[in-house]
Parts: sequence; structure tokens; C-alpha cells
Amino acid sequence: MSTAVPSSERGWRRPLAALRRKAMGGPLALVGVAVALFAVLAWAGPAQAGPPVHWTVPVSTKPADIQAGNVLFNEHCSACHGVGAVGASAPSLLNVGPAAVDFFVATGRMPLNSPKAQPMRNKPYFSPKQIAEIVAYVNALDVAHGTPGPGIPNVVAACKTQSAECPTLSEGNQLFLLNCAQCHDASGSGGMLSQGYVIPSLRDATATQVAEAIRVGPRPMPNFGPGQLTDQQVMAVADYVTWLSHRPDRGGLGIAHFGPVPEGFVAIIFGLGILLVISRLIGNRG
Ligand code: HEC
Ligand code: HEC
Repeated sequence: MSTAVPSSERGWRRPLAALRRKAMGGPLALVGVAVALFAVLAWAGPAQAGPPVHWTVPVSTKPADIQAGNVLFNEHCSACHGVGAVGASAPSLLNVGPAAVDFFVATGRMPLNSPKAQPMRNKPYFSPKQIAEIVAYVNALDVAHGTPGPGIPNVVAACKTQSAECPTLSEGNQLFLLNCAQCHDASGSGGMLSQGYVIPSLRDATATQVAEAIRVGPRPMPNFGPGQLTDQQVMAVADYVTWLSHRPDRGGLGIAHFGPVPEGFVAIIFGLGILLVISRLIGNRG
């Protein structure tokens, strides 16, 4: 018997070796890619001191915006709030902060028709650009007079930049039941207060407006400062309220209403897809 390997045997050994290389190469490559992905995710996470979360939206300090806001204010607000917002028949707006001005104007509560009326949600009187200009003007007065009040909450910051800051719906639900449901109802549908004040439904409020209302406390609603609800908890409630309001389209394409949970699924499915594609590419080269 010859010690040489028969050609027939060599013939099937070579593909077998190739197959073995391929079989080992596939999982190894997969593990490598998974490790790389985890490294990227860990790096993006908050364990490392990443970029700080900006909890408030910056207000324009451009002279042109402040000037435009000044003109709008003199025309539509100063009759009640006084020239320079120092107060007249209506309270001074010095140091109420950008969140209050944005909330009252963007929900159409201001300008009020009569100083005696309860401010109510209405179609906004101004365009978003004009609202930003009025905010810029009052903020400039605020800054000149000392400590400005709360800034406009940056409701997307929590979920779009730092995954661990992302509030969960159950956290928002608990905080809502504890702090808000006694007035707004567990369903957010609103009602009446004993003094005859209308408690509005929360259906039309955007996440930003919910967060603003929490910090500002449009009378007679109490305000909740950072000592009562942290920025992260405010975002959790804002997320929950917008989810509550848009439940009918559950299961549709409105993924934005569901916040972190489906986005997490999308991320996982997307990530797995990439893994599969990469492992196929590597596998095909073997
Ligand atoms: C007809 C009078 C009137 C006009 C015009 C008016 N407001 Fe008011 N505003 C009021 C009154 C009255 C209140 C207090 C409401 C309350 O506390 O129930 C108020 C409250 C506010 C608040 C909340 C203040 C706080 O302490 O939280 C803001 C902010 C505000 N107004 C901004 C504006 C801006 C900006 C304009 C112009 C676009 C404007 N208002 C026009 C009467 C007016
Ligand atoms: C004591 C009762 C009370 C509590 C507690 C309360 N609210 Fe309110 N809320 C009100 C009243 C009254 C108004 C209407 C004020 C106005 O129109 O000026 C209001 C207005 C609002 C608005 C504006 C709605 C719109 O469409 O413009 C939002 C958003 C809101 N509240 C959210 C909350 C959240 C979130 C909580 C809990 C963290 C809360 N409120 C707790 C009574 C309350």
C-alpha cells in the first residue's frame, strides 16, 4: 500500500478543509463583529463621560431676533404686561423664563383678549419664528434683570443622544398617576377644579408643552421644580402623556409615539441585519 494519499481522497479533503475554515471563520467573524458593535454601543453609552445632555433648548441671542421680538411685544403684549414687561394690569414677565413665554404663546393662551379671562388653549396667534423672537426678547430682558426662569425643555435630547437617559413609559405612567392624574384624570381627559377653573385635556399638548407646563405651572396648576421632578422624570412624563394621547395609532407606523421601546427593537433588528450581511460577506470569501 502506498503512503501517498490517493488522489480520490485528496480530492474530497481539500473542499473539507475549506469547509472547516469557512465553518470556523463564520462564527469567529460574527463574534468579532458583535464585540465591535458592543464596543461602539458601550462607547456611546453614559458609562463613559460622553457629551453632556442639553436639557434645554438654546434661546436666540441675535440682536435681529431680539429686535423683532421687541416690536411684536410692544404691539401685542405691552398693553397688559407693560413696556419692557415690567407688569401693568397683567403680571411682570421679568424672570418667568423662556419656558413660560414659549408655553403661553405657543399654546395660543397669549395674547389674551381680556385681562380677566382664564387663559385657554387656542390656535397660536404667531408663527413659530415669531414665537422664537418674542422668547428671545423676553429672555434678553430676563438676563438683564438677574436669574432667568426655566428654559424650554429639550424633549428629544434624552432619547436621541443618550440611551440610558431615555425614560420608560412605565416610569412616566407612575409619575403621572402620582402627580397629575388627580386633576387631569388618569386618561388625561381633564375636568373642572372647584374654583370653576377648567382643567384642560392633555390630548393637544406636544411633549415640549407638557414638559413646559410641568416646570412653569400655568395658574392654577402648581409648578414642579427640579427638587420634585428631575429633568429625566419630566421627560418621562412628557413621553408618557404624548403616548397616552396617541394610543389609537398603536401598531401603525407612528413609531415616534412609542419612544424608546420600539426604537430599541428597530435598533436590534437593524443591528442583527448588519451582522447577518457582514457574516454572509465574510463567509462568501472563504
Ligand atoms: C389682555 C391682556 C393681556 C395681553 C394682551 C397679553 N397677556 Fe399675558 N397675561 C395676561 C394675564 C392677565 C396673565 C395672568 C394669567 C393668570 O395668571 O391666570 C398673563 C400671563 C402671562 C404669562 C405667564 C406669566 C407667569 O407668571 O407665569 C406669560 C408668559 C404671558 N402672559 C405672556 C404674554 C405675551 C408674550 C403676550 C404677547 C404676545 C401676552 N402675554 C399678552 C394678560 C395679557
Ligand atoms: C391642581 C391640579 C393640577 C395638577 C396637579 C396638574 N395640573 Fe396640569 N393643568 C391644570 C390646570 C387648571 C391647567 C390649565 C391652566 C391654564 O390654562 O392656564 C393645566 C394645564 C396643563 C397643561 C396644558 C394643556 C394644554 O393643552 O395647553 C399641561 C400639558 C399640563 N397641565 C400637564 C400637567 C402634568 C404633566 C401634570 C403632572 C406633572 C399636571 N399638569 C398637574 C391643573 C393641574
